[in-house]
Amino acid sequence: MDGDQGDLLSKLMKLIVTLGDSFGAEYLIEIVSAHTVLNFGLNFVNAAAGVLHQIAEAKLHVKVRTTADPIIDMDYQEKLKTIYPMFVLHKQMMDDLNKIGVRGYTCTPYMLDNVPNYGEHCAWSESSAVVYLNSVIGARSNREGGLVDLACAIIGKTSYSGLHLDENRKGQILIKISPEIDTENVLNLTSIGLKIGEIAGYKIPVIQGLENITNDNIKNLGAASAATGAVALIHVIGVTPEAKTKEEAFQGDTPQENVEIGLKDLEDVREKYSTSWKFDPKNISVGCPQLSMREVKEVLEKLKGKRINQEFNFWICTNENVKEEILNSELNEILRESGANLTTLCPTLTPLQRPLITNSAKACFYTNATYKSLDECIKIATEEFKNV
Ligand code: F3S
Repeated sequence: MDGDQGDLLSKLMKLIVTLGDSFGAEYLIEIVSAHTVLNFGLNFVNAAAGVLHQIAEAKLHVKVRTTADPIIDMDYQEKLKTIYPMFVLHKQMMDDLNKIGVRGYTCTPYMLDNVPNYGEHCAWSESSAVVYLNSVIGARSNREGGLVDLACAIIGKTSYSGLHLDENRKGQILIKISPEIDTENVLNLTSIGLKIGEIAGYKIPVIQGLENITNDNIKNLGAASAATGAVALIHVIGVTPEAKTKEEAFQGDTPQENVEIGLKDLEDVREKYSTSWKFDPKNISVGCPQLSMREVKEVLEKLKGKRINQEFNFWICTNENVKEEILNSELNEILRESGANLTTLCPTLTPLQRPLITNSAKACFYTNATYKSLDECIKIATEEFKNV
């Protein structure tokens, strides 16, 4: 921090220490993994790219396994060039990140090989990934900020504060899911996520009534709750590793609040976050957060034998490993015949032409998209289209 190893490293260290001070941290701890978000969208990306370029020019390097959020998919440069002027800058950002030692561009780094162990300390941003890391894997990270996450990766440490401490991982609100809700229905689960974020805010929710939820759907639900609230950890009783029982989730204490989510709540959040359009849709996207292999296969299964209407672009968003595996498998035939686009881009930050329809609750929160189930997205894309 005194500058013995150069001004830039000193600045990065000061950033971490100053933030740690503001959170009351007494010291820094070593991390095993980092995940960075630098694609801030059109308004801020220039500033992030400038700092990143300085870091790369100074030949600084990450000390731990580090991934980054999706930035660009060069396979679609031609297709998107009229609406997406950022390709050159984004390509430079990826080059700089590669120089620093970042490998893998996805918002689901735990589906590549950035998978810490239970209890290990990390510095991740990307709210959907942080909630998955804390909840499903049981590793520990606060919601780091963009650039702070990269500073942590380069220093190899973060401040010992927030969710790194046992006592701050204690559940605070008990949220019961009403039995009237069909919890096999993914649209219901992501809508539950929107409502959980609204209820929890900064607190840690403990969910009762989702004993059959899959990790993919915790990903989708968690992303929604981390959008409407500052949620970074969700305990699901009987499912997540720190909530084998209700008592364990609350660390032996009683909940500060008890809340129930019912069908009416789900209707309300859908109404609130979905946008209606008077025009025919132009783009339909699925995969925010990006889809797992299982989810991509499900989409392709539903698209089998169907053809996307020429009026639309249908985007299936996933990580680079899944994309490559699908393109080299027999499923590529279904993909090609359907006319859908399999991509590693982020459908929410890419300025896809509106009207946009999506099955992602998170994307609806952040953009003016129309919120539909996967089946409805496919039906609209392949059978008929009307104003949505
Ligand atoms: Fe991922 Fe972009 Fe959504 S980074 S979580 S697809 S906003």
